[in-house]
Amino acid sequence: MAALAVSGSSAVVCGAQSPTATLSIQLDKPAHAVSPTLYGLMTEEINYSYDGGLYAEMVRNRTFQDHGFGGVAHWNIEHMGNSNASMGIDQAEGPSAALEHSLAITVKQADVANQAGVRNEGYWGMAVRANTAYKGSLYAKADSAEMGPITVALVSDNSGKAVATATVPGISTEWKRYEFTLTTGKVETSAENHLLLTVGHAGKVWIDMVSLFPPTYKDRVNGNRPELMEKMAAMHPTFLRLPGGNYLEGDLIDERFDWKNTIGPLVDRPTHRSPWMYQSSDGMGLLEFLEWTEDLKIQTVLAVYAGYSLKGDHIAPGPALTPFVDDALDEIEFATGDASTKWGGVRAKLGHPAAFPVKYVEIGNEDWFDKSGSYEGRYAQFYKAIKAKYPQLELIATAPLKRMKPDVLDDHYYKRADEFFEDVKHYDTADRSGPKIFVGEWATREGSPTTNMGAALGDAAWMTGMERNSDLIVMASYAPLFVNVNPGGMQWESDLIGYDALTSYGSPGYYAQAMFAEYLGTEVPTSSMTGGGARFFYSVTRDAAAGKVFLKLVNAASGPQAVDIEMSGAGAVAKAGTVVSLTGTNPAETNTISAPTRIVPVKTALKGAGAKFSHVVPGYSVQVLELQAK
Ligand code: AHR
Repeated sequence: MAALAVSGSSAVVCGAQSPTATLSIQLDKPAHAVSPTLYGLMTEEINYSYDGGLYAEMVRNRTFQDHGFGGVAHWNIEHMGNSNASMGIDQAEGPSAALEHSLAITVKQADVANQAGVRNEGYWGMAVRANTAYKGSLYAKADSAEMGPITVALVSDNSGKAVATATVPGISTEWKRYEFTLTTGKVETSAENHLLLTVGHAGKVWIDMVSLFPPTYKDRVNGNRPELMEKMAAMHPTFLRLPGGNYLEGDLIDERFDWKNTIGPLVDRPTHRSPWMYQSSDGMGLLEFLEWTEDLKIQTVLAVYAGYSLKGDHIAPGPALTPFVDDALDEIEFATGDASTKWGGVRAKLGHPAAFPVKYVEIGNEDWFDKSGSYEGRYAQFYKAIKAKYPQLELIATAPLKRMKPDVLDDHYYKRADEFFEDVKHYDTADRSGPKIFVGEWATREGSPTTNMGAALGDAAWMTGMERNSDLIVMASYAPLFVNVNPGGMQWESDLIGYDALTSYGSPGYYAQAMFAEYLGTEVPTSSMTGGGARFFYSVTRDAAAGKVFLKLVNAASGPQAVDIEMSGAGAVAKAGTVVSLTGTNPAETNTISAPTRIVPVKTALKGAGAKFSHVVPGYSVQVLELQAK
C-alpha cells in the first residue's frame, strides 16, 4: 500500500491508505424512518454539573451544609483594621423549617472604618464581567437593632479592591430576606474574585441562603449560565433525561432525588447529599429542570425514583412501595397536570401555569444493579399505576424484564473507542419484537476531563450504528455531559463539555454529536458498503421532503480513506454539496479550557458530487456530506 500525505482541513495526516470502499445507496428504497428523537441530553449532579456549572449561582455552600476541615467549607472570616470576629454554625438558628441552622458571625470589635465579616470563594472563583448587574439576596438576623447594615462586595482576589459594592440596610432582629444588586463598571473580566459580607458594629449576626446570580439564560430568576445553555442548544437535542442517573437514586433511600424537596422558594429546600460526594443545593429543582426543557424546546424524559438506591437498599414491591408510586404519580401530575389538578395547581402557584409535555417516564435507573431481584415487581407496580392514570405515557424499564414487555428498555454503554468499533453492529440483528431501545447513557471513555479525538471517532462510529438501527433505538443520550475542569471538580472523566467559572468549551466528541444531530434526516435508505478499512464506518439518511441526503463518514484510521459513492433511485443529485469535517492529527489530540477550539468542525463546499462520485476522507476524521438529491 502506498504511503500518502493528504491535506485535511486543519492538519496534514500521514498513513497508509486503506482499500477503496464502494458505498451503494438506493434512495428509492427506504429501509425505515429515523427516530426524530434520536439525539438528546442526559445530565445529573456530577462533576459540579449544576452547582458550580449550569446553575448560575455564584455562592458556594450558600446554606452552610458543607463542613470542611475544621470549619465551614468555602467560607472564611475576614477582619479589616483592628476588627475582631469569629464564625461558626449555629444549630439552633435558621430561617426556615428546611434550613434549621445558619452561620453565626460573632463580632467582638468593629466599626464603620474597621469592618469584620465573612468571604465566600465561589465555585473556584467568581466570574466578573464589566458593566454587569449581579443580583444577590440573603437571609439575616442580628442580636440587636444596633447592628446596622451589611456591606456586600465583589472583591478582586488579586488587588483586594471591590469591583462592585452594595449595602443591605439595618438588619432586623428577626429572620428576613434582603436583596441587593452588585453592578460592575469598567472592570477586567476575571474569575479571580470573591464575595465579602461585612458589618461595622460589634454584636452577633446570623446569615443563611446567601445567593448571587449573574445574568442568566433568558433572564430566568434562579436560572442557568447562558453559554452552557447555548452549547446544549447547538447540539440540536430533542429531549432531556432528568434528573439522573445515580443522582436519581442516591446512595441511600433518604438521599434520593426527593422532588418535593426541590420545589418552591429556595429557603424551603433542605438540600441533599448527592451520590457524587458533595451536597446538592437543589437550586436545580424539578421545576427548574422542566423550565430548562422549555427553554431549549425539547421533550422531558422524566425518571422517577423506583425504590432502589445505590448502596443496595430497596423497597419491596407491595404496600411498602405504594407511597413511592404515589409520589411518582404526583410528580407526573406536577409536570403534566393542568392548573386544576392538585400538583398542577402547585406548579401554577410557583409561576408556571402551563403543563409541560412529557411522553416518556423512566422507572428507576440501572436497576440491573438490584441483586434482590425486586425490579420485576417494582416496575410492574409503577407500570400498573401510571398506565391506569396516564395511558398515553411510554414507560421505560432500566433492566431487562422476564414477566412483561416494557414499552422501552434503557441500555447503557461505557466503552473505549476500539470496543465501540467492534460493537458497531450491536443492534443490526437485535430482536425487533422486543421493547424499543433508549440508549440512555453511553460514552467513549477516552480523554480527561473531556474526551479527545479518539473518543470522538468512537462516538461517531457508534452513532452510525444507532442511526442505522433507529427503527429500534428511539432515543440516545451521551453521559455525562458536563464537567467543571478545576482540580476536584471531576468525579467521572471523559465528559463532553468542560468549563470553569468564566469560560467553557466543547470536546471533539461534543462536535461529533452536534454534527450527527444537525444532519439527522428522516429516513434510512437501503445501502451497502464493500471494501474500505476496518475502522471506516458510515451512515446514510435522507430528508426526502427537503431534497437532502446526509452521508456520515467516520475514518478512525490514521491514513486517508477513499470511497466511491453510487446513488440510485433519485431524479437528480446535484454536483454541489457541502462537507463538514472534524479532523484531528492523532487520537490524543483534544480541546481544553485554554485551547478550546483546536478541533472544531470546518464546513467547505463539496464540488463534483452527483449520483456517482469519489471522495477521500482524511485520517482521524468525522465527516458529514450534505447532498442535494431530488
Ligand atoms: O454517567 C455516570 C453514571 O454512570 C450514572 O450516574 C449512572 O447511571 C451510570 O452508572
